[in-house]
Amino acid sequence: MNKNVFIMDHPLIQHKLSILRDEKTGTKQFRELISEIAMLMCYDATRDLPLKNVSVKTPVDIANAKQLDGRKMAIVPILRAGLGMVDGITSLIPSCRIGHIGMYRDPVTHKPVDYYCKLPSDLEDRDVFLLDPMLATGGSAIDAVSRIKEFNPKRIKFMCIIAAPEGLKAFTEAHPDVPVYCAGLDDHLNEHCYIVPGLGDAGDRIFGTK
Ligand code: PRP
Ligand code: URA
Repeated sequence: MNKNVFIMDHPLIQHKLSILRDEKTGTKQFRELISEIAMLMCYDATRDLPLKNVSVKTPVDIANAKQLDGRKMAIVPILRAGLGMVDGITSLIPSCRIGHIGMYRDPVTHKPVDYYCKLPSDLEDRDVFLLDPMLATGGSAIDAVSRIKEFNPKRIKFMCIIAAPEGLKAFTEAHPDVPVYCAGLDDHLNEHCYIVPGLGDAGDRIFGTK
């Protein structure tokens, strides 16, 4: 396994992922699970944030404590399905800035078509988390990272929930410098470039569309 790929096998994440995949799981619960899984993944994927020593006066004495060392963060969901992961992340990092990249896959070629991009103007001072629950062929995430790199952020990490081997290979070859965090690595893509077994169409299941 590529050392820049992290499969998040925490039991809580894996339990929630099993319910997320179930075709019987409805829109409300699906949305809640996407958010909860994103929060749990964020908790682990931020374990390398630098800390600084601070002194805090407690009611009893001075405590030598630690705080985040001024690291500024931005998250960038890929529309639409990446939006489902935003709440989970902002519950842990409420001050992060949020950019948006809009992309959809052409139904015939399966290549990404981009239709929107609005990113924080000070991205060069920030660490960026790119969010999308699905890494299928990899086309969308590869193009989104290329777009973000034009803004020279400090670091980029990509967080997805389910990845296909084909997409993971393409992504790590295109952007070997970008770590990938995912909850499940599946078997393969089908003839429609859907992840097998996957969870179906993430955007449709989050927003209740078809
Ligand atoms: C899905 C998903 C990713 C993309 C993954 O979006 O949310 O963005 O497909 O596929 P890829 O790795 O082959 O590029 P979709 O195109 O269905 O758009 P939507 O979120 O608007 O439904
Ligand atoms: N997009 C999805 O939402 N699901 C897949 O399986 C592939 C791409």
